[in-house]
Amino acid sequence: MKNKNNIWIFASGSGTNAVKLLSHFSKHEKLRISGLFTNRPDCGAAKLAREAGVAVFSLTDAEIQQPGTLLNLLKTQAVEGIILAGFLRKIPDDVVEAFPEKIINIHPSLLPAFGGKGMYGMHVHRAVKESGVNETGITVHLVNRVYDDGRILFQTDICVTPEDTPESIAAKVQALEHTHFASVCDAHFSEILGD
Ligand code: GAR
Repeated sequence: MKNKNNIWIFASGSGTNAVKLLSHFSKHEKLRISGLFTNRPDCGAAKLAREAGVAVFSLTDAEIQQPGTLLNLLKTQAVEGIILAGFLRKIPDDVVEAFPEKIINIHPSLLPAFGGKGMYGMHVHRAVKESGVNETGITVHLVNRVYDDGRILFQTDICVTPEDTPESIAAKVQALEHTHFASVCDAHFSEILGD
């Protein structure tokens, strides 16, 4: 029987999505989370991965931007797909080129709205509140060389009411992320990573 395809999670934050991904793929027949990569080895996501028995790999921000360094690590570890779950650094171009259609990101708004450089986490939800829009949501998309620009795999929305605060918007969006992200990643990688 063929080995499972190796997927890595990239994360820099608290890791609530990483935990959902680890749980989802722990029972998968064909895909496995074989590592978590971070630029912040002390972040919540890294701690949660270690607790789950998943290897944690890290490079500094400067090392990540050195051409070849991250790509070599990924090749050495036979990584076949990457899931960005709150990874707050730009993926170097050589990694993007080496993983066509194989890097998935989650963004906490309905892209292209509230996307781009500097738009992450609570910055997004504050901008949503200030803009007065009456809906927001999540976007799961493929990663290309431009921030938040790759092909969209999935979007779903929630209402924003006048009573909502950035914090209450964040909670509603996070619930959507936890419901949908792992299954969208599963469907995409199951389709493109061959037997
Ligand atoms: C998630 O809400 C994700 O959408 C966001 O970071 C959070 C990570 O939370 N990503 C971005 O804003 C990317 N631009 P978590 O660490 O609890 O999973």
